[in-house]
Amino acid sequence: MTIHTLDRPVTVTGPPPAHDASREAVGRAVVWTASITALGGLLFGYDTGVVSGALLFLHTSFGNVSAFDKELVTGLLLMGAAVGAFGSGRLSDRIGRRPVILLTASVFVFGVLGAAFSPALWVLIAMRFVIGLAVGSASLSVPLYISEVAPPRVRGALVSFNQLALTLGILVAFLVDYALSSNAAWRLMFGLAAIPAVLLFVGMLTQAESPVWLVTHGRIAEARRVLVRVRSRDHDVDGEIDEIRALGDRKSSYRELLRPDVRKLVAIGVLLAVFQQITGINTVIYYAPTLLHQAGLGNSASLLANVGIGVVNVGMTVVAIWLIDKVGRRALLIGGTTGMAVALFAVAATFAASGNTLGHAAAIVAVASLAVYTGSFAIGLGPVFWLLISELYPARIRGKSMSIATMANWGANFVVAISFLTLLNTISNAGTFFVLGFLSLAAATYFWRKVPETKGLTLEEIEREMAASTTRNP
Ligand code: BGC
Repeated sequence: MTIHTLDRPVTVTGPPPAHDASREAVGRAVVWTASITALGGLLFGYDTGVVSGALLFLHTSFGNVSAFDKELVTGLLLMGAAVGAFGSGRLSDRIGRRPVILLTASVFVFGVLGAAFSPALWVLIAMRFVIGLAVGSASLSVPLYISEVAPPRVRGALVSFNQLALTLGILVAFLVDYALSSNAAWRLMFGLAAIPAVLLFVGMLTQAESPVWLVTHGRIAEARRVLVRVRSRDHDVDGEIDEIRALGDRKSSYRELLRPDVRKLVAIGVLLAVFQQITGINTVIYYAPTLLHQAGLGNSASLLANVGIGVVNVGMTVVAIWLIDKVGRRALLIGGTTGMAVALFAVAATFAASGNTLGHAAAIVAVASLAVYTGSFAIGLGPVFWLLISELYPARIRGKSMSIATMANWGANFVVAISFLTLLNTISNAGTFFVLGFLSLAAATYFWRKVPETKGLTLEEIEREMAASTTRNP
């Protein structure tokens, strides 16, 4: 099925605005909404990133902490996230996007404080699962909410605020770990996440429900009030409401995901999710210092290289936000994933030439290649995956479809996290990076053939185009 039929130019921005000042003010309201909601992304990044440093100090409170215990502390978050993503998709279709984000923020507060004050190791392990529930829920509900509130011409950038906040969260976690390591303050490392969690809760109280959810649940007057607030003054609010309404009522079931038109989109979402993880981003995010240390870099040089990789991750996400509504999703996705493949082959070749221990020059090439790899991810597959799964699905079943893709993402993340170190030991560093390089090439080819362009279209136009393209190419 080739359905990149949406890349024709479509004018959705309408005539030049009659009230520039009001347009700016409205722009600010939407940017503010996206920024508040993206605190969910910050928590996602912080909570997944913080653990690597905290693990080093658990023994100061709990005595003997086995390797398996450490795996539980790390891995249960990923399992909780898969469960959280599943539950929150269903729930956000039923009770609305806003209550789900409020609930998510509450679970975050409970989980991170529970982890910080854990009296025993098993409590900490249980709390990491609870935090995972919130991380999974946030990873779905934040892009979903922002995509439904944002005007089409800047939707890509606003949804990608979430990815930017996520990368910032990872970087802040690395820096906090580094700063607190001299005091072995692992409780504070976990507990600091309570601050953005409370801010997310309070900030979300000031925000309205998604207009798309309101219309699909028959609450037209409320939807109109929200749209008046988040659209420019010259926007045809009633036209937008009619468009959303025309797409049908709210009743939906999981069976609908098997409908031929939806099934193909669900497959695209799941493959995007799986490729995002099996091309190895988190092996770099979670294990780069370990790998570099084993390759012969000193402790502080490894940590510094890691912070550098974190900075590249944030920087290139900013570039992606700038480009995503201009050059489109496909160009970033395909270009970025190809860049990842090239960089991974360079890392593999470096290890192949020098063996598992790198000399000075080889270590510099490896670190530079890992930075290029991370930058290529950050400009493409990182933000574009989360954006596309918030755009591709029909409004009525958006939450459910997104939850399938999000669960696949967390599931694949879990599998990669538990198998990476074994893979390194079994097929060597060079072998592992060659495999990741080939998987990236396979991903780029798949994206090129199957992933549609959604730039500049309204969610309703995308929905109609997707249905029509399945009729054309059943
Ligand atoms: C991925 C995460 C990853 C992060 C790195 C996200 O898009 O879903 O698994 O840790 O990017 O920036």
